[in-house]
Amino acid sequence: MESSRPKLLFLCFIFLASAASTTAHIAEYDEYWEKKAALARAASQAAYNPNPESVANTFNADVHREMDKAEVEHAIMNSTRRGLRGRKKKGGPCVATNPIDRCWRCRGDWNKNRKRLAKCARGFGRHTTGGLAGRFYVVTDPRDDDMVNPRKGTLRWGVIQNRPLWIIFAKDMIIRLSEELIVNSNKTIDGRGVNVRIANGAGITIQYVHNVILHSLHIQDITQGNGGLIRDSETHYGLRTRSDGDGISIFGSTNIWVDHVSMSNCGDGLIDAIMGSTAITISNSHFTQHNDVMLFGASDAYSPDALMQITVAFNHFGRGLVQRMPRYVTKREYSPDNVWKDWSWRSEGDLMRNGAFFVPSGRDPDKSTFDQKDLIKAKPGTFVARLTRYSGSLDCVRGQPC
Ligand SMILES: *[C@@H]1O[C@H](CO)[C@@H](O)[C@H](O)[C@H]1NC(C)=O
Ligand SMILES: *[C@@H]1O[C@H](CO)[C@@H](O)[C@H](O)[C@H]1NC(C)=O
Repeated sequence: MESSRPKLLFLCFIFLASAASTTAHIAEYDEYWEKKAALARAASQAAYNPNPESVANTFNADVHREMDKAEVEHAIMNSTRRGLRGRKKKGGPCVATNPIDRCWRCRGDWNKNRKRLAKCARGFGRHTTGGLAGRFYVVTDPRDDDMVNPRKGTLRWGVIQNRPLWIIFAKDMIIRLSEELIVNSNKTIDGRGVNVRIANGAGITIQYVHNVILHSLHIQDITQGNGGLIRDSETHYGLRTRSDGDGISIFGSTNIWVDHVSMSNCGDGLIDAIMGSTAITISNSHFTQHNDVMLFGASDAYSPDALMQITVAFNHFGRGLVQRMPRYVTKREYSPDNVWKDWSWRSEGDLMRNGAFFVPSGRDPDKSTFDQKDLIKAKPGTFVARLTRYSGSLDCVRGQPC
């Protein structure tokens, strides 16, 4: 989180020097990928915010403001005896407590105005608009049987298009990906209103691209792909090695927003964000039954990861999870102090349970750009149940608040 200028310049330099070694799963690192990687590096540097505290501060302020409004609404609803207990029942009042959800969920017209979602990201991924500039594309066919020339109507056909697209689904479906689904830039995959499961096959790869929204999906039981020839855009396909079995793999990519996604039991990580990926928000999602949940940055030696800025908010880390919730590069239990003691780690208002503890390190984040009175504290951990109550993929009904 350090942001002093000389250091940043130094890191950019190292970034360029190590660029050639980043070839994961690309069997033929051809001119096409070289160019794509170079553009992605430039995008990542441009997206990096040298003043991360201001982003966190704005985010905290939003949370306070929207929660206060929600409390007032709840009180009004209470007084009109409409009842608010438990999860929203069909036809019951819609309750949204966090600023992302309050941006769209309780509007009865969400399905007529799906692109409103593009205004709703908060935190480091807040500029993510996905397929906002594009047309709608409706997935009608759950099959995934041609990796090089996917047929129109499939999810794979939609994600490889070069132009922006807002991808929705005609009906409930289970999609078993034969190989990793390589998503191109400027896409939204919007599963609201239907039940879409990406399951029992390969996972989603977001590699050297920008501006992708994944919304209201179930991603589960993901396994390694075999690799082979796979198309990644209208204009290119190439040979890939075996994929890792990550649910969502974010690799050298920028402006990515994952919201209301339910994930469990993948072969590798549920979500990994590595190789200089930045400007990411992972929100309102629900994670269960998994060992290595989230990895941000695979190696301390890879310095472009210093540009990595990720907001993880309003997620529910549920049953059966083992570790990495998330892991940020260094595994502190195993590493000597000197590996991490200069990193700025802070915990604010957290609620520690079952013997959990937190060891702060490094210097206080640079708050000099704020008057102390303008500094907004995070909502304390006691609010977590209220803020994460509707996490995971939603059962939205068209024409009703969700
Ligand atoms: C609404 O009513 C419930 C049950 O009577 C109470 O626990 C809750 O605090 C009330 N909420 C508000 C915001 O007044
Ligand atoms: C994505 O959209 C932006 C804004 O319209 C555009 O500048 C950019 O070139 C697009 N990216 C790709 C890879 O087409």
